[in-house]
Amino acid sequence: MSEHGTENRKAGGEAATHGEDFTAAAEPFILFETWFADASAREINDPNGMALATVDASGMPNVRMVLMKGVDKPGRHDRGFVFYTNLQSAKGSELEGQPKAALLFHWKSLRRQVRVRGPVQPVTPEEADEYFASRPRGSQIGAWASEQSRPLESRFALEKAVAVVTARHPLGHIPRPPHWSGFRIVPVEMEFWADRPFRLHDRVQFRRAEPGGPWHKHRLYP
Ligand SMILES: Cc1cc2nc3c(=O)[nH]c(=O)nc-3n(C[C@H](O)[C@H](O)[C@H](O)COP(=O)(O)O)c2cc1C
Repeated sequence: MSEHGTENRKAGGEAATHGEDFTAAAEPFILFETWFADASAREINDPNGMALATVDASGMPNVRMVLMKGVDKPGRHDRGFVFYTNLQSAKGSELEGQPKAALLFHWKSLRRQVRVRGPVQPVTPEEADEYFASRPRGSQIGAWASEQSRPLESRFALEKAVAVVTARHPLGHIPRPPHWSGFRIVPVEMEFWADRPFRLHDRVQFRRAEPGGPWHKHRLYP
């Protein structure tokens, strides 16, 4: 994008906030809800896609995309951003060893990003069961068949594993695998960034000492 590009600027900070100045927001979950609604209306694919960063046992960072499957409503202060995965995957073991994470949403068509950091909690078995039950049958079978993040000999080996699980569950309810569940990142920091001309972007950071505590807001230099 050129330093001077302006045609699409309406997609960014100004238009998507409907003329309101997002830097005046007092509560980050409410602002996130507004921005996520804008992204849901504008992004062609996966507005709920977010990069999830963790660290391994040696302190080496790792990052990959996951889909946000829930963000709790403002006011439920100990709550946060939920995703689901295989608990035996790289991210699963990294979060078991160090239950802290960072998230990044980047909505290209809006020229906005949101950064989130905080401790991570497992979702309850009931939440995981409910979400698993809502998934397409093929995805439920896939969750049983895939040993996510472990070496796979061939595509055929994966297809064979899918066929074995399918034969085991020809009809009816497929239970949630014990190795498949979700995590909730409970933010202690959320930063909202919107593109502005000449790289003089707007940044607003909300921080709190611990989940449930009061938020403190700062503007940051771009
Ligand atoms: C847009 C997008 C969304 C994804 N969503 C998920 C997800 O919700 N859960 C998941 O386990 N993997 C998801 N993946 C795959 C992960 O990026 C990753 O390949 C996989 O989870 C293994 O990561 P790990 O080895 O770090 O555990 C997604 C990938 C993309 C590109």
